[in-house]
Amino acid sequence: MKAIVIENPGKEYRLVLADIPTPQPQSGEVLIKVSAAGLNHADMSQGEGRYPPPPGAPDTLGMEVSGVIAGLGAGVMGFKTGDAVCALIPGGGYAEYAVAPAKSVLPVPKGVSVTDAAALPEVHFTVWTNLMDAARLKPGETVLIHGGASGIGTAAIQLCVARGHKTFSTAANKEKCDVIAKLGGCPINYKEQDFVEAVKKETGGKGVDVILDMVGGDYIQRNMSAAAIWGRIVNIAYMSGMQANVNFAPMLMKRLSLLATTLRARSNEEKGAIRDAVLKEVWPLIEAGTIRPIVDSTFPLAGAQKAHEKMRSSGHIGKILLTM
Ligand SMILES: NC(=O)c1ccc[n+]([C@@H]2O[C@H](COP(=O)([O-])OP(=O)(O)OC[C@H]3O[C@@H](n4cnc5c(N)ncnc54)[C@H](OP(=O)(O)O)[C@@H]3O)[C@@H](O)[C@H]2O)c1
Repeated sequence: MKAIVIENPGKEYRLVLADIPTPQPQSGEVLIKVSAAGLNHADMSQGEGRYPPPPGAPDTLGMEVSGVIAGLGAGVMGFKTGDAVCALIPGGGYAEYAVAPAKSVLPVPKGVSVTDAAALPEVHFTVWTNLMDAARLKPGETVLIHGGASGIGTAAIQLCVARGHKTFSTAANKEKCDVIAKLGGCPINYKEQDFVEAVKKETGGKGVDVILDMVGGDYIQRNMSAAAIWGRIVNIAYMSGMQANVNFAPMLMKRLSLLATTLRARSNEEKGAIRDAVLKEVWPLIEAGTIRPIVDSTFPLAGAQKAHEKMRSSGHIGKILLTM
């Protein structure tokens, strides 16, 4: 089958089309004939040689796909050949065929094209488990989502708005802020406004209950300032830096929780529990049209290198996909 392989791993990595063996589904796995694959920052880190795939995962890139089931491993229940699905996978999605643990597979929601469904798994697994499992978001609470125009951000805003939360969200420019507003969020252009002052003003000085952050760096301290009493701050990345000189006094004074999680290294069982919750709570909102996949652009498989360059430039809004 055709797949993208990494040539010259490291800062100057190149993504090239190659012929590699078609994978075979093992017990508890399904084989998917891929229609589209979603891009993720972890793919860039893997290309740069900074993020090896977990043990047993393919060396090739791609952590989420959509397509049609082309084969079933032993013991798989609830799916059949020909089903249109999307899935979170440990690797190997930039290819004509990919193998997924059945516990991480979801049906393509009604009303969504098979291609666009590739924009759903990574963002909705991540957003759900971080807001609900880690930050324990409760009805009526206020939320701040950093990077609101990102793949993760656009999904998080839609979920929070759909569940009735007042949702603030930061972005770098007017175009991105306009998208946040269209999704029902309250945009904060962080180049023009201090997000701490903005959320304090809009919440009568109280601050926000939950913060979802991918930025880190100086946001670590500023998030503590923006949080309400008993607030929970959850980091899914530290794009501006993993290190900061932090005054922890607000943690004590406001009884805050500082959390951080990754998804890829979790067990199939844990991912299965997240899949079940997403299927129950998020899929009906997608099928009702309340939440939709936000796709910035699609590239053919052979254009994976260009797609990575686009993602690195941060000009996109929502997800970038590769199509087969
Ligand atoms: N922990 C997990 O389980 C998990 C799972 C999925 C994704 N992630 C991480 O979450 C982050 C977002 O993923 P995504 O797919 O939504 O990414 P994306 O669509 O490429 O968006 C990244 C956003 O980050 C903002 N940003 C802020 N500071 C930045 C900086 N220093 N460098 C680059 N961008 C910066 C940009 O918005 P502005 O232009 O508005 O600043 C951009 O929209 C990534 O770091 C990814 O690795 C973590």
